[in-house]
Amino acid sequence: MIRTRLQQLIRPRRLRRTPTLRALVREHRVDVAKLVQPLFIVENAGDAGPIGSMPGIHRYTVESAVQEVGLLDALDVRTVLLFGIPETKDAAASSNYDPNGVVQRAARAIKDAFPHVIVIADLCNCEYTDHGHCGILDESGDVDNDATVELLVRTALTYARAGVDIIAPSDMMDGRVRAIREALDAEDFERVAIMAYSAKYSSAFYGPFREAADSTPQFGDRRTYQMDPPNEREALREIALDIEEGADVVMVKPGLPYLDIVRAARESFDTPIAVYNVSGEYAMLKAAAQNGWIEEERAVDELLVSFVRAGADIIITYFAKEFAARHAPGA
Ligand code: PBG
Repeated sequence: MIRTRLQQLIRPRRLRRTPTLRALVREHRVDVAKLVQPLFIVENAGDAGPIGSMPGIHRYTVESAVQEVGLLDALDVRTVLLFGIPETKDAAASSNYDPNGVVQRAARAIKDAFPHVIVIADLCNCEYTDHGHCGILDESGDVDNDATVELLVRTALTYARAGVDIIAPSDMMDGRVRAIREALDAEDFERVAIMAYSAKYSSAFYGPFREAADSTPQFGDRRTYQMDPPNEREALREIALDIEEGADVVMVKPGLPYLDIVRAARESFDTPIAVYNVSGEYAMLKAAAQNGWIEEERAVDELLVSFVRAGADIIITYFAKEFAARHAPGA
């Protein structure tokens, strides 16, 4: 056999030869401390249980959510994002600003049991309105921006009083970050941070979440307040505005189809950037894995590191627990 030898000085394959060498030159890693696990909490115990379109994800009662936080804590997942599913809904989302509402009770119970765990509360009205839109409707059936901001401020204060560490407005109303910041400061909650869903697109990938949170709009869609998917410059403008208004963390959502936006935001801003790996992205991967069409563990690892590589600091993902369990020391 004739052995050919290329005159080649540079051979990138040299550093891919063994697992140790590959680890030595690995550029990015997923740090469990940067993962956030979303939790759905129900007011009515009868609504608790598994979510069909999100295998492995459950709706918890306040008590079972506290237990789940204990399990997450043991795996070093120490930040949770709460979504409430109230017993009653109305046009004004009044169950959202109830001081004893489901999110307020869950936040108190979690902070009592695990004071070091960081509790983020998603702040929106879509789970609390009977029409399923994210705010108060005007005569034309569109969401009234300023009336909705007033409502968000009212709810945000009840969250802060319940011990929430970070308030995360996901409604996409204009001017809400400043209004929430001012209201928090006026009540001496200057330590409560704001993580703004800044570049939140009107996306088909929220489908499974709307089943989980019972928040599907009863008519129309969210295109008059969430962003139009083809836009990039507008995302940077939204992020810049939220930073000016006092956001501590800004977010890009969904994740996978918007990695270019995460990268663009990373290059433009120094503020910590969160990315939300949403329900549809989770459901897609789980469904393919359940069919044997994709290798789940490798796919999850590859997916999560893509967010780090794109420049995200914080990753909100339904895979947080499963990833942490698989990568726990001794696992
Ligand atoms: C509330 C909210 C939604 C999500 C997070 N907060 C749904 C929506 O905007 O319709 C989606 C999260 C997910 O799909 O995992 N407005």
